[in-house]
Amino acid sequence: MAAPHVLIIGPPGAGKGTQSSNIASEYGVEHITTGDALRANKDMDISDMDTEHDTPRAYMEAGDLVPDAVVNAIVEEALTTADGFVLDGYPRNLDQAKELEGMTELDVILSLDVSREELIDRLTGRRVCDDCGTNYHVEFDQPEEEGVCDGCGGELIQRDDDEEESVKNRLDVFHEQTAPVIEYYEDRDDFVAIDGEQTPDEVWADIKATIDDHS
Ligand code: AP5
Repeated sequence: MAAPHVLIIGPPGAGKGTQSSNIASEYGVEHITTGDALRANKDMDISDMDTEHDTPRAYMEAGDLVPDAVVNAIVEEALTTADGFVLDGYPRNLDQAKELEGMTELDVILSLDVSREELIDRLTGRRVCDDCGTNYHVEFDQPEEEGVCDGCGGELIQRDDDEEESVKNRLDVFHEQTAPVIEYYEDRDDFVAIDGEQTPDEVWADIKATIDDHS
C-alpha cells in the first residue's frame, strides 16, 4: 500500500493532534501540523508579509488565525519532503483549501465531530509536556505524577491559548472560517465524518478502519 495522504479536520480540541500521532506511527507517515510549526516559530519576523502583527505570537495567543501567506509557505515546504502524511490544522479557511488543491492530492478527509461544551472542557483541562509535546488532561488523561510527563519527565504546562477566553474565541473562529471548509469537502467521496466524542481508542478504531478502506 502506498503511504496514505490523510487530512484530519475539526474544531480546536477535537483530538486532531492525539489521533494524528496514532496515524503517523501506524502508517509511518509525516505528521504535518501548522499549530506545532507555528508554536516553534512564534517570534519569527513576518513584517515583510504586510501583516497586522510582526510575529505569529499575537495572533495565536488571542486564538486568531495567523495570516495565510505564513501558513501556506509552511505547508508547501513540508509537503515537498513528505511521502505520505497526516495534515493537521490546515486548511482553516476556504482560501487555504483552494491553495492546498494546488499542492497535493488527498486519499481521505477525516472530520472529527465534538460538541462545544466537551471542547471547552477538553481544552481548558489540557496540559502539554513542555519537552516532548505529549498531551494530558487534568481529568481524562492524567500522568502518573502530577505535573510530570510519563514519557520523558518534562514539565506539564498549559498552552497560552488554552485559557478560557482564548478557547472561546478559537471556537468562534472555527465556526466562522473553518466550518465552511468542512461544508466544502463533505460531498466528496473521500470525506468521512467520525464521532470524536467516543473514547480515544474508539475514535482511533474508526479512523484506522476508514484509512484502510480508502488507501
Ligand atoms: P493548533 O495547534 O492547530 O490548535 P487547534 O486546532 O486549536 O487544535 P488543538 O491542538 O487545540 O486541538 P486538537 O484537535 O489537536 O486536540 P488534542 O488532540 O490536542 O493551532 C493553534 C493556533 O495556531 C491557532 O489558533 C492559530 O492561531 C494558529 N494556526 C494553526 N494552523 C493555522 C492555519 N492553518 N491558519 C492560520 N492559523 C493557524 O486534544 C485536546 C485535549 O482533549 C487533550 O487534552 C487530549 O488529551 C483530550 N482528548 C483528545 N481526544 C479525546 C477523547 N476522545 N476523549 C477525551 N479527551 C480527549
